Amino acid sequence: MLTGTDIAFAAELLTDNKLVAIPTETVYGLAANAFNTSAVLNIYKTKNRPQFNPLIIHSNSLLRFENWGLTIPAEAKKLSTHFWPGPLTLVVKANEHIPDVVTAGTGAVAIRVPNHPLTLQLLALLDFPLAAPSANPSGFVSPTSALHVAKNLGNKIDYILDGGNCTVGLESTIVSFLEEEPMVLRFGGLAIEEIEAVLGKKVAVANKDNKIVAPGMLTKHYAPNHKLVVVDDLQQAYLGYHKNRVGIISFSSFIGDVPVEHQFILSENNNLEEAASNLFAAMQQIDELDLDIILAERFPNKGLGFAINDRLKRASIE
Ligand code: TXA
Ligand code: MG
Repeated sequence: MLTGTDIAFAAELLTDNKLVAIPTETVYGLAANAFNTSAVLNIYKTKNRPQFNPLIIHSNSLLRFENWGLTIPAEAKKLSTHFWPGPLTLVVKANEHIPDVVTAGTGAVAIRVPNHPLTLQLLALLDFPLAAPSANPSGFVSPTSALHVAKNLGNKIDYILDGGNCTVGLESTIVSFLEEEPMVLRFGGLAIEEIEAVLGKKVAVANKDNKIVAPGMLTKHYAPNHKLVVVDDLQQAYLGYHKNRVGIISFSSFIGDVPVEHQFILSENNNLEEAASNLFAAMQQIDELDLDIILAERFPNKGLGFAINDRLKRASIE
């Protein structure tokens, strides 16, 4: 396995239907030629991902998706104009160019233009889109650095394009345009309030009763080795445990007598964007400690707080 910043080499491997880990502003992706069924199947195999869970395809502009024959509804186009390149994925009707392994036979395809200079240059060199789920084995937390990819998948992929630490740090927000009204399928790195401001209306959020869902959201997102509990009041909750045996994920403040090396403060300035960018690295690091329990503070339900709470909740499901 190699890590580096050689875009031409990455393009060569991908054209050869090999797997390459790519940086994006959200999380690292495990990429392959989306138009090649066996390359895409290799993604599922490498991640140990169930095949009912479809993949997002990435390119460097809306126009390229249109040139591959996809029809983008007006409101989806409006969002893409505002937020691409960026942490937003749009689900639209698929066509015959998109293999079933990408859509998991749903007839729908998720598309995104990620905002990372290396990856945008790479995508411009390719005459196909890249199918890319997060570059973690299924059941692990999504990687936000090249090192994080190397640690969990390094021996299974040919190249990691190193684009530094992901600036957003949460997976993209997914909005479906399969029905008359848009529907949010996954909270992520773009706040719902921003989407609603551009569309000029409230947008519904999918729940288990909806027909359209992101299949990946039905499964356990990330299972830490330790029990993780989300609490409203850390200062109270930690008192029930031995102070040396508890790990803390907190928004902005330390807990008096818990060892500092067991405490992960996501943003001392109470900034939700900063907290989001630190969340996955903290979740991974805290899980490596020897603890009885991890206590995570519930974040404010606004902006990126929705997505942070969503990921913490998924990590707390046993
Ligand atoms: O930020 C991101 O979105 C990252 C980077 C690499 O772009 N990718 C990512 O991919 O998070 P993944 O595979 O870990 O999560 C994609 C989610 C899954 O929950 C999947 O079910 C959903 O998107 N999805 C993909 N295609 C879909 C489709 N056609 N219809 C509904 N949901 C879809
Ligand atoms: Mg994932």
